[in-house]
Amino acid sequence: MRQEILRLLRQAGDHYISGEEIAEGLGVSRTAVWKHIKELRRLGYDIVSQAHSGYRLEKAPDLLTPEEVAPLLKTETIGRHLLYQEETRSTNEDAKAAAAQGAPDGTVVLTEFQGTGHGRLSRGWFCPKGKGILFSVLLRPQRILPQDAPKYTLLAAVAVVRACRARGLEVGIKWPNDVLADGKKLVGILTEMSAEMERIHYIIIGIGINVNIEAAAFAPELRETATSLALLAGKPLDRRAMLADILCEMERLTAGVQAQGFALVLDEWRRLSLTLGQEVRVLGVNETFTGRAVDIDADGALLVDTGEGRRRVLAGDVSIRPAGARQER
Ligand code: BTN
Repeated sequence: MRQEILRLLRQAGDHYISGEEIAEGLGVSRTAVWKHIKELRRLGYDIVSQAHSGYRLEKAPDLLTPEEVAPLLKTETIGRHLLYQEETRSTNEDAKAAAAQGAPDGTVVLTEFQGTGHGRLSRGWFCPKGKGILFSVLLRPQRILPQDAPKYTLLAAVAVVRACRARGLEVGIKWPNDVLADGKKLVGILTEMSAEMERIHYIIIGIGINVNIEAAAFAPELRETATSLALLAGKPLDRRAMLADILCEMERLTAGVQAQGFALVLDEWRRLSLTLGQEVRVLGVNETFTGRAVDIDADGALLVDTGEGRRRVLAGDVSIRPAGARQER
């Protein structure tokens, strides 16, 4: 109902729409309309009312609620089922719970704040409330094998970079899935899966984007290594529009993958990569080595030429070593 009332207020634009008109249009009482308007104001909507004229939406809050995101979606599946909580522990955990209860393909779980956001390699993910885009996409891909699931991480990175570049932001991908600008991290992606040997039950792609975070809001130990889109752009960004664009790019790419396989994602990833052609240090599970990152293979593994041959890296951490410098990122 709230979503419907907002739709009518938005349709009216700069004009007032009466409580009676809203009530009639939606088949509810004027008291019900008034109650919803009160609730919308509580959520941060600036709705002005004028005697004999009705209501006008002056300003919407900067929130990733379904009311704000759904009208911007251009997708058919991804984001058509939106689950929002103002605060939660981790959207990946919520998405797993939703998946276990049968949530449909394309469900998106959103929040403004995570108490215990999960990162890769058992790290955490912190983002100040309302300053990032924190979400998890639930996919139930058909005809895709479990061993192909990690490539959805590459797909997500490509989708985010497309949306950033559409805004003129010069960002690229560090293997496997960090989106960076000026050597600093903007986006982290954590993909999790439930599968049998030959069948994927579901994949959860969790994405955390630093959007409107000021430099001083980063913890001191992160200031050298992390940044935000607003710092890069020199102005705050509309989180809702950005999210809608990313979901749209993800849908385009997943449709492409279902039709033609992952080659198109891998090719675009190569073009957007900051890692390929660079000297890297690989922190593997059991060892550390250095070499030149030359390509990714059909599984998305990083191929690194060391002085002693070619190594294939499927998991781990990779830092890029700027030419001639000791410092790494
Ligand atoms: C990384 O270590 O780079 C991955 C970070 C992934 C963070 C996102 S935020 C939304 C989603 N929910 C989580 O708990 N983690 C992912």
